[in-house]
Amino acid sequence: YDSGSQSGARGPLRGSQDNLEGEPKKKITCYLLYCISTAVIGSLQFGYNTGVINAPEQKLRRFFHNVSLDRYGEPFSPGANTMVWSVAVAIFSVGGMIGSFSVGALVNKFGRRKSMLLSNVLALLGAGLMGLSTVSRSFEMVIIGRLIIGCFCGLCTGLTPMYVGEISPTALRGAFGTLHQLGVVIGILVAQIFGLEFLLGSDTLWPLLLALTAFPAIVQSIMLPFCPESPRYLLIVLNQEEEAQKALVRLRGCEDVSDDIQEMKEEGMRMAMEKKVTIPELFRYPAYRQPIIIAIVLQLSQQLSGINAVFYYSTGIFATAVHQITMHISFERAGRRTLHLIGLAGMAVCALLMTISLSLVKVNKSLSYMAIVAVFGFVASFEMGPGPIPWFIVAELFSQGPRPAAIAVSGFSNWTANFLVGLGFPKLEELCGPYVFIIFMILLIIFFIFTFLRVPETKGRTFDDIAQAFAASASSPSHSSVPEGVPVPESKGAPPTSPTE
Ligand code: GLC
Repeated sequence: YDSGSQSGARGPLRGSQDNLEGEPKKKITCYLLYCISTAVIGSLQFGYNTGVINAPEQKLRRFFHNVSLDRYGEPFSPGANTMVWSVAVAIFSVGGMIGSFSVGALVNKFGRRKSMLLSNVLALLGAGLMGLSTVSRSFEMVIIGRLIIGCFCGLCTGLTPMYVGEISPTALRGAFGTLHQLGVVIGILVAQIFGLEFLLGSDTLWPLLLALTAFPAIVQSIMLPFCPESPRYLLIVLNQEEEAQKALVRLRGCEDVSDDIQEMKEEGMRMAMEKKVTIPELFRYPAYRQPIIIAIVLQLSQQLSGINAVFYYSTGIFATAVHQITMHISFERAGRRTLHLIGLAGMAVCALLMTISLSLVKVNKSLSYMAIVAVFGFVASFEMGPGPIPWFIVAELFSQGPRPAAIAVSGFSNWTANFLVGLGFPKLEELCGPYVFIIFMILLIIFFIFTFLRVPETKGRTFDDIAQAFAASASSPSHSSVPEGVPVPESKGAPPTSPTE
């Protein structure tokens, strides 16, 4: 595996991508940061709406109770109340599945930037419904609002990593890619803070807490018109070279963007001007089958690690701090593959420690300290790799044509697994008691083995280079793993040209 290559490109591009000292160009312009920050507001939204529902649980239950009393003359039974509450919580993930699955169709039709703009309509709608639920005496509005906000967040988990991946220079794609996850943990943290009883988590203010998501939606809608459409989309999909060049000049802060343009053109040509790839085609063509399986399994490794079962014992502030530290220390130095492996291994060890300490804590009280350390270690390991990497690596594993469909499929897998863990964990815990984390430990070990055997390093490689390596391995049946950087003249595994599309 090519874990050491810092150069953004191979072959003819190599020399021109490096500066005089042989270091890759890593120019960060204020405008690039502005555009990335604008997109990362979507990540904050996902985090905020994930975390926001926990603090006001009792208040919402009381509201359901009162509405039922007003409307039907008697309150919901405790069972019915729990049911309404569980639906309000879980429907968010159902919305997420719908939203993430729609990403591909949306970006193919409207492009990246306009899709982000349009998605904010959902945020405003959902926020309005939830915010007005108490004045309208309607618990249904909370539920429908959560569904719509879930759709919105599903879109965010595809749109943000896609846009950020496409506008970032190759050498910085990983570092910027982790900003999505940083946005998520900060969003959760902000929700935890605003959810405090004396802030917005009170009996009267909780609708405002839920509706607050409208604010970042407005801010993003104001900022987006000043961001460019993704240059890769402009050039490869729309064939608007001049527009793409203009956008790149602003993003990179220099007039000479011929390297980027050249690299995109090569990608567009090599992949036979593939315009759009549908979801079934992802599974049909060998060149896409391998990366889509990798993308799905990585997403599953994130959710089936049990992170969301543990996350609520940890605090957002801790996760944010850890994320910041690991990101700065490790990204762009170690590769994605290494970090994902270390993270999964660390989580498996911590899951074991949690099990030991939780099962023996009755015998020895001091083991509760070990449980705390294990929980923190679990979250820290998650933030090293399994948290950020699955979200942004999907954009890297695919070239322009199949990327939207791939992001839709893998995002959908993530949300589905998230939904299933949320639904099944309480029952599993009831059945297995302190041993419940053994299940996650076993899954983590399986994901570790898969990552070790199948996941290639993508750090420092162009999208085109990565796609070519998959195409090469798909066209040579003797290679079951992914050979790195073997340039192939033509991708045999890709679908045939369809110039009319
Ligand atoms: C990731 C997961 C999300 C989780 C969060 C915790 O973004 O996708 O489900 O809640 O990390 O940091």
